[in-house]
Amino acid sequence: MAIHKTQKLKQKPRSPILILIASISCIAILYIASSFISTKGLFFFTNPTTLNNIKSKKIFNNQESYYHKYLYWGNRVDCPGKHCDTCAGLGHQESSLRCALEEAMFLQRTFVMPSTMCLNPIHNNKGILHKTSNSSLEERPKASSCAMDSLYDLEFISNTVPVILDNSKMWHQVLATSMKLGSRGVAHVQGVSRVDLKEKDSYSSILLINRTASPLAWFAECKDRNNRSSIMLPYSFLPSMATKKLRAAADKVKALLGDYDAIHVRRGDILKTRKDRFGVERSLHPHIDRDTRPEFILCRIAKWVPRGRTLFIASNERKEGFFSPLAKRYKLAYSSNYSRIIDPVIENNYQLFMLERLILMGAKTYIKTYKEEDNDLSLTDDPKKNTKVWQIPVYTMDTKEC
Ligand SMILES: *[C@@H]1O[C@H](CO)[C@@H](O)[C@H](O)[C@H]1NC(C)=O
Ligand SMILES: *[C@@H]1O[C@H](CO)[C@@H](O)[C@H](O)[C@H]1NC(C)=O
Ligand SMILES: *[C@@H]1O[C@H](CO)[C@@H](O)[C@H](O)[C@H]1NC(C)=O
Ligand SMILES: *[C@@H]1O[C@H](CO)[C@@H](O)[C@H](O)[C@H]1NC(C)=O
Repeated sequence: MAIHKTQKLKQKPRSPILILIASISCIAILYIASSFISTKGLFFFTNPTTLNNIKSKKIFNNQESYYHKYLYWGNRVDCPGKHCDTCAGLGHQESSLRCALEEAMFLQRTFVMPSTMCLNPIHNNKGILHKTSNSSLEERPKASSCAMDSLYDLEFISNTVPVILDNSKMWHQVLATSMKLGSRGVAHVQGVSRVDLKEKDSYSSILLINRTASPLAWFAECKDRNNRSSIMLPYSFLPSMATKKLRAAADKVKALLGDYDAIHVRRGDILKTRKDRFGVERSLHPHIDRDTRPEFILCRIAKWVPRGRTLFIASNERKEGFFSPLAKRYKLAYSSNYSRIIDPVIENNYQLFMLERLILMGAKTYIKTYKEEDNDLSLTDDPKKNTKVWQIPVYTMDTKEC
């Protein structure tokens, strides 16, 4: 068991870009995290068996649980950095957030969390299969950001990495104290390594490390993940930290689905093609359009999902009935089947995505669009990583393959 856990933590670094989907159940992953964290001597982690009945409120309000030094990366995920005007999708921003949280863990500092998350207009408006029964949700003007605590359960996160919001009373107290402390109050840091921040006296004794001078997007700070020991949080950490409301809604839907399998079918933005100088359409993922069509999905998943199973489909495909051909073999379910449960708890696509992700993670067999980890099942063999090679899309398939 111990060996298994270590290997998990030594997994290959993954592309921080694109949408992340956790493959292992959150409990398992938290268990892994807990074993790792405990070896690091951090004591904020709650035993996974008690995750569901933690009195997180108490822990959250208990200042003793918090480090008395702080790490600040700015008031917007990925800004400063190249994503200041617009912002990336949720998955990309989560990679960045996770990187910052890992740094806080490493430095044993409380992380100052942006109080809002920027909503990328493309990711927020793009069609989703989910049809609300109440059109007021669709017609609502699209917000450009949402409250961080409408996505994540910060008390829950704080059991692993203590966090405070940058609009909290606590943060204002920290700022006031840092001013009084003068040069020992705050260090404005750029291009200093994590290890130096931890070990050099000129940083380690400072109340507040201000990282906002870095010109890089946050995730770039984690790009060099060759040093495996700097990876402290699994990919699925933030997905499993969804707010109580989202987790409760996902649990209700999961209960109604019963024993189910799931596929996440990414279409939309990743199908983008462009014409080369001869006017020929090219795509970064030459097989993705084909592999995410129902007839090819049927063929691909037949070996993993037996006939008659309930299949939960999460997709950004807009066309109504697009996946209906799958109904000849499976009992199909979408988030729209559970509008009654879902609509009251979501205000934007990021929340919907987080909720759907919890449902996907709970499936018996879960097939992602792309393979992200060694054990993943996927709809396509195209790599998720941006290869930067524009190829001619392929729509045929060797019939022997099915
Ligand atoms: C839609 O939702 C709004 C607010 O939740 C509610 O006031 C309204 O009555 C709902 N309309 C319908 C047709 O259900
Ligand atoms: C952090 O440093 C930046 C300059 O790099 C400065 O503009 C900002 O006010 C600082 N913030 C805090 C909270 O010290
Ligand atoms: C790797 O990272 C760990 C923790 O982040 C650090 O203690 C160690 O010194 C690093 N090793 C190298 C070779 O940078
Ligand atoms: C979900 O709704 C579709 C119609 O939109 C229906 O065909 C399907 O049977 C429903 N699935 C479940 C599990 O209720």
